[in-house]
Amino acid sequence: MTSESPLDATRAEEAWWKHAVIYQVYPRSFQDSNGDGVGDLAGVIARLDYLVALGVDAVWLSPIFCSPMDDFGYDVSDHTAIDPLFGDMSDFRRLVAEAHSRGLRVILDYIPNHTSDRHSWFKESRAARASRKRDWYVWRDPAPGGGAPNNWVSEFGGSAWTWDEATSQYYYHGFLRSQPDLNWRNPEVVEAMLDVLRFWLDEGVDGFRVDAIHFLFEDESLTDDPPNPHWHEGMPPTERVLRDHSLDQPEVHDAVALMRRLCDSYEDERVLIGEAYLPIERLMAYYGGALDGFHLPFNFHLITTPWTPTSISILVEAYESKLPNGGWPNWVLGNHDRHRIASRVGRDQARAAAMLLLTLRGTPTLYQGDELGMTNGDIAPDQVRDPWELNMPGLGLGRDPVRTPMLWDESPNAGFSAASPWLPLNADWSARHAAGQADDPASILNLYRRLIALRRREPALSLGDYKALAATDQVLAYERRFGARRLGVALNLSGEPAAIAGMTGRVLLSTHATDVGAALTGRLDLAPNEGLLFEFDR
Ligand code: NOJ
Repeated sequence: MTSESPLDATRAEEAWWKHAVIYQVYPRSFQDSNGDGVGDLAGVIARLDYLVALGVDAVWLSPIFCSPMDDFGYDVSDHTAIDPLFGDMSDFRRLVAEAHSRGLRVILDYIPNHTSDRHSWFKESRAARASRKRDWYVWRDPAPGGGAPNNWVSEFGGSAWTWDEATSQYYYHGFLRSQPDLNWRNPEVVEAMLDVLRFWLDEGVDGFRVDAIHFLFEDESLTDDPPNPHWHEGMPPTERVLRDHSLDQPEVHDAVALMRRLCDSYEDERVLIGEAYLPIERLMAYYGGALDGFHLPFNFHLITTPWTPTSISILVEAYESKLPNGGWPNWVLGNHDRHRIASRVGRDQARAAAMLLLTLRGTPTLYQGDELGMTNGDIAPDQVRDPWELNMPGLGLGRDPVRTPMLWDESPNAGFSAASPWLPLNADWSARHAAGQADDPASILNLYRRLIALRRREPALSLGDYKALAATDQVLAYERRFGARRLGVALNLSGEPAAIAGMTGRVLLSTHATDVGAALTGRLDLAPNEGLLFEFDR
């Protein structure tokens, strides 16, 4: 395609993150280059060409900063240094340069809610009640009758308050006790944390995925969270209460607006993506009242919605209709915290899921390995590493199964590492690795490549309007339109053959790679689990 094509002109008018495909790299499990069994930055650099061949536009790296790794990097002990496990600053700079030279953007994780308890800020805060940084964290006296100040719970189990013997107060932690919450009501904290963003923006990163943003503030009056009337045995104990007072408090939006203003003060549209698992209505507030919040508040609803045409169609309509004016949609099928899509919907449906993700209106984010059809790995009890599973075993909360190493090739440890990996390989690694799939036109990897390439060629897919066409028992169908160009998507979400009427046009892509180019003359037949992308007759 020449640089003067109308499509390029169209894309150039829109911010890059609107027509981008984002790819999440979980660095520990992507590629090890130094033989310690844990992935690193040099490893990511070595695999950039794979990402170029896949066709993605941006790489989001889960945390790479100095950390004791209690929560695998989400417990930061130095925000502006690279953990030696992953390399050093020169590796990071090389990664940014190498990515940029290939046209790939780099997005970093930013963890504003908490630090590690081994961060120098917390050490100083904890040292004495009179410490200059005491108020940088959330310290409180015991409840009047003794014990924790209130009933707030930690996401990872137990009370969210930990008693500090030396200074006789509790500190608050929405996650592990070794992840104390920062006090964003303290202006010095705000400045220090904005400085962290400045540091990485000056290093040339293209944006941030902002961790656990709805945890940033808690009700200042420490009101107890009310009981959850829907809680029953088998649900995590943390869900015994509704988090009305400990999550999603109004002040969060002012803090996000400060992050946004800072990013906007840099050239080249640095993107801000917010992580918040919230109902759609509440999620929308994270765009900011004047669209001065996140560019993309992560939309995780495909992860939790039942996998049926009706449920998904209702979800898409609800999400689209609640978007604020000018707010840009986005979709996620998986990440390092949730069960793999191929395990949730089954291997047979994973292809239709890929087509859904890459043809809905809005920026898609892919999780490493989903393009290989990876399922959850099997983790034996003595291999569990995730603190969530260790704290609350057996409830299905553990995230190790989705963090198993990338499967690259037939060599030992699937080409991930010369040493035994920190988590075991998936049992089917030899049949599923990227090298084996690369030359197989029918592989799911090549389906992802074709879908991403088509999305890049067709503004109807990246920027076009969305219109629902049908949601039957088996089939979900919709149209994407850009000017006169009308594309249709029909997904058979069942394991039986299916058909829908009223479609005339020509097939552009099938998840089953069979009917490409075939004419549609009214009735559209779909094989079990098949998705078809077609152009309508004009
Ligand atoms: C969300 C992250 O994705 C997860 O991995 C982490 O454990 C928590 N936030 C705490 O930072």
